[in-house]
Amino acid sequence: MGLVNGLKCRECGKPYKAEPKYVCEECFGPLEVDYNYGEIKKSITKEKILSRPPNMWRYKELLPIEGEPAVKLSVGYTPLVHCKNLGKAWGMPNLYIKNDAVNHPTLSFKDRVVSTAISKAIEFGYDTVGCASTGNLANSVSAIAAHAGLKAVVLVPSDLEAGKIIGTQVYKPKLIKVFGNYDDVNRLCTEITSKYNIAFVNINIRVYYGDGSKSYGHEIAEQLGWKAPDQVIVPIAGSSLITKIYRAFKEFEMLGFIPEVKTRVFGAQATGCSPVTTAVKEGKKNFKPQKPNTIARSIAIGNPADGYYGIKTINESGGWAEDVSDQEVVDGIKILAEHEGIFTETAGGVTVSVTKKLLDQKRLDPNAVTVMCITGNGLKTQEVLHGNLEEPPTIHPKLEEFQRIYK
Ligand SMILES: Cc1ncc(COP(=O)(O)O)c(C=O)c1O
Ligand SMILES: [Zn+2]
Repeated sequence: MGLVNGLKCRECGKPYKAEPKYVCEECFGPLEVDYNYGEIKKSITKEKILSRPPNMWRYKELLPIEGEPAVKLSVGYTPLVHCKNLGKAWGMPNLYIKNDAVNHPTLSFKDRVVSTAISKAIEFGYDTVGCASTGNLANSVSAIAAHAGLKAVVLVPSDLEAGKIIGTQVYKPKLIKVFGNYDDVNRLCTEITSKYNIAFVNINIRVYYGDGSKSYGHEIAEQLGWKAPDQVIVPIAGSSLITKIYRAFKEFEMLGFIPEVKTRVFGAQATGCSPVTTAVKEGKKNFKPQKPNTIARSIAIGNPADGYYGIKTINESGGWAEDVSDQEVVDGIKILAEHEGIFTETAGGVTVSVTKKLLDQKRLDPNAVTVMCITGNGLKTQEVLHGNLEEPPTIHPKLEEFQRIYK
């Protein structure tokens, strides 16, 4: 018996073979991987995990790959950092960051989903992979496709940050800038998948892609000493990551690796693109699509594919959601850098400022074990800091001039 039964519809449960398919023919619900947890329980132990190299494949029985992953890169197992300084400033002694700003190879958590998706695309026999991206995914698909020797087709909104464009171009994919926002790009890519034999990682093989995010949650639980956190704050775009982190904790509970999961899951968005947080705050079960307008480009998805499930995860876990202004995003980036020496991108600025907002609202327990999900690197979105940092003085190489400034 394999560890994966196939796919199944998240809504009506109809089973499907493991193929590049993502929508149920019966009810148009999204498909998900149907794991054979009975078999998985027999084949994975904590000891086995601990004996493996420190990367996301140490949990490979819980990823939708047959045998060994085709992408051999060492992705994941990023640091879980105890934020002593920020924790002190905020009165949160048990505050942590899961730092995927230093994930290998392209400095965001997207390397987890992409190495899973591209491994699967290779299993399915594709020679070309693609994506619709808000930036980080473009970087990751291009780099990992280059590593795997596949062709890549990458479509992005035309006005993306320079760091995200250059950090894609350098790997020489077929990069196409599209006039419009992410949702326009995604719509076009969905049409392309029906005409071309391309594995679009977040469209026709999305089912497999999404599960790569579970490793982010598995690692948090392992790195906390085999327990789930009490509170976790997650930035939301398409809303896949937030559902998969919670799923990962639940899987570890089911396998008996950690005690009962009581984690409250909190969603974070920028107010300029906040379909999910707005729905949660208004007590709605589903979101209303929005037209994004925020500097937090990497999470600017107005019509999130898994938005409904993100809301469900937040509500079922007893969590909440908040959003912050663009100025608060910048402030969040600066606060994290100044206190912890970690330079995150706009999505991380959102997470940090939402955490503080939830704390001020008394939605978070200040003493509980709390993990902020830092998912991307600040070097990619440097322009948002222009005009927001103190201008350094420039001097001639003379001691008097230094002494005049350095009081
Ligand atoms: C840095 C960063 N964080 C978080 C997210 C959110 O991920 P998801 O689309 O799974 O909600 C993204 C998605 O693009 C991202 O780039
Ligand atoms: Zn169905």
